[in-house]
Amino acid sequence: MKGLFITFEGLDGSGKTTQIKLLHDFLKKEGLDAVVTMEPGGTAVGEKIRDALLSRKYSGMDYKTEALLFLASRAELMSKVIMPALNSGSIVICDRFFDSTVVYQGIARKLGKEQILNMSLWACSNVVPDLTFLLSIKVDKSEERMKITNREKDRIEAEKDLFKEKICKGYLEIAEENKDRFIVLDGGKDIQSIFGEIKDNVERVLKEKRLI
Ligand code: TYD
Repeated sequence: MKGLFITFEGLDGSGKTTQIKLLHDFLKKEGLDAVVTMEPGGTAVGEKIRDALLSRKYSGMDYKTEALLFLASRAELMSKVIMPALNSGSIVICDRFFDSTVVYQGIARKLGKEQILNMSLWACSNVVPDLTFLLSIKVDKSEERMKITNREKDRIEAEKDLFKEKICKGYLEIAEENKDRFIVLDGGKDIQSIFGEIKDNVERVLKEKRLI
């Protein structure tokens, strides 16, 4: 594939959205073609799936149903948005990707890390990110930020703290196993110093792929 595929992972409130915006603005200023997309959602079918997944109306959804809906949304996003953009040489920045499903559904929901990884690879035609930033923050920091921004929790965010502890640990586990593409950043640091590290890593990989 000609382009560059970058994903952001982390707990809700870890600062993914802020950093994605900074990176997108920076790449545009450099004259590079960058596309931002998010999961679940990002396509017409994906938005419908997102509503079903996150609405608190569906509390008690079977965990397998939940996992399959995330994969369905991703398959659509991959074929309609990500793959065409990468093939045309663009930089794709994705807010969450299959590492979220491996950690939330595979590890925290106990559906099986390997099982979910294999199904995810199938759903997204074996496309693996070139670079994944994990914004790592403690559970209490995530809760504090969610309160400050006064965001209403979605069905999955509304899970108890124990679930978040498992997610924190699960992310660190898969980052350790995929050191070739994972960059773990301290999400508790100030916005500009986190962005400095993101920018340096993106520039390094762009050079390696001869895109700049
Ligand atoms: P997202 O829209 O990224 O929420 P936010 O913008 O608040 O980070 O994701 C919504 C919720 O879905 C979030 O609690 C994480 C969860 N999620 C999974 O459980 N599995 C997945 O594969 C994805 C993509 C998200």
